[in-house]
Amino acid sequence: MNDDVAALARRMMQRLDELARFSDEEGKLTRLYLSKAHAEAARQFIVWCNEAGLDAKIDAAGNVFARYEGKEPGAPALMLGSHIDTVRDAGRYDGNLGALAALAVVEALASRGERLDHAIEIVAFGDEEGVRFPTTLTGSRAYAGLFARSALGQKDADGVTMREALAAFGCDPEAVTALRGRNIAAFVELHIEQGPVLESEDVAVGVVTAINGASRFHATVKGEAGHAGAVPMALRRDALAAAAEMMLLVEQRALSEDDLVATVGRVEIEPGAVNVIPSEARFTIDIRAPRDEQRQRAVADLSKRLAAAAAARKVELQMTQTHEARAYTCHPAIVAALKASVERTYRAPARLLPSGAGHDTMIMGQFCPAGMLFVRCNRGISHNPAESITLEDAEAGLAALIDFTRRFSAQAAPSGRATS
Ligand code: GLV
Ligand code: MN
Ligand code: MN
Repeated sequence: MNDDVAALARRMMQRLDELARFSDEEGKLTRLYLSKAHAEAARQFIVWCNEAGLDAKIDAAGNVFARYEGKEPGAPALMLGSHIDTVRDAGRYDGNLGALAALAVVEALASRGERLDHAIEIVAFGDEEGVRFPTTLTGSRAYAGLFARSALGQKDADGVTMREALAAFGCDPEAVTALRGRNIAAFVELHIEQGPVLESEDVAVGVVTAINGASRFHATVKGEAGHAGAVPMALRRDALAAAAEMMLLVEQRALSEDDLVATVGRVEIEPGAVNVIPSEARFTIDIRAPRDEQRQRAVADLSKRLAAAAAARKVELQMTQTHEARAYTCHPAIVAALKASVERTYRAPARLLPSGAGHDTMIMGQFCPAGMLFVRCNRGISHNPAESITLEDAEAGLAALIDFTRRFSAQAAPSGRATS
């Protein structure tokens, strides 16, 4: 097959630039779940699907889907895609690359009227990042039938509940809990690596073997406000000083073991004045590891250490867990098939590597066989506007995904049956 993958990759990169215009913040890319920018990006994605001859629809969770039928209408589908929400001040490739690559795969087939034994479902999930609401991976979770009803009551920083945000987006919040995809044989996601491994080895494309599990918490430390000049140091219950000590405990615990990582990514202080001892500090904790037992041990340990730090400083500590995702081992048959596709199209031994970042694949893997391709990114930088990939690498990733998709019909669905 002589697809013009270079032309498809060029268009994909142009679309990534166009999609990056849809932002909730002036001068930077921030596209939060169910926001105005998310609605605009979803609409644009649907326009591109329609231009490729596909009907597209939005489900009750705000995910966009489009289907390319196989030879027989209603055949089990290979689902391809990723997410179109972003972190704050994001790069333009995280997630968006996978959604647009899925569309490019269909365009490669549709341009020659080629139908496979299986259908292709394209997806642009609405929430992978978990930046707006405390929950994470809401889009794929809902699709996989794993959405917890309690999430509807969660609030964003402005006090808007997820239920209200879904309704404003045009979705039926009550229908989210009843969602569950059907007739999907496998899920494959193309994504930027977000780390430096491929670049350090001068490799354009890699095959993901496993994805780190993650736990996230919101911690609230309550002390007592007081006059910054009048209260002696020994008599203070400074919530921020206590939180700072806790943050260092988080860092030290992660440093104590290989493969374990932990991050405090957001801190809020009350009342936040130069001459007032802080009465309250709120911060987030994100802990990840390739082995669930390792992560759970770190979480248990830290709960004890932070409680002890709170007691020693006579402040109150409340920890609320907002996210828990098990580590996911990518399906061996999908890994093998992706590896073969990379080797056929890239003409070099495929680099197999684990993912430190979380992905929709880890949720979809609880629903159907799943796997991922990684594309090298510049200096491994991600969650940062400096995120970048080259056209050549985008083309290499796309070529492997097209090859995999074509051959997928020749394989039985790896689980032996499609998810019904
Ligand atoms: C998503 O990007 C995550 O891993 O936090
Ligand atoms: Mn992502
Ligand atoms: Mn991300």
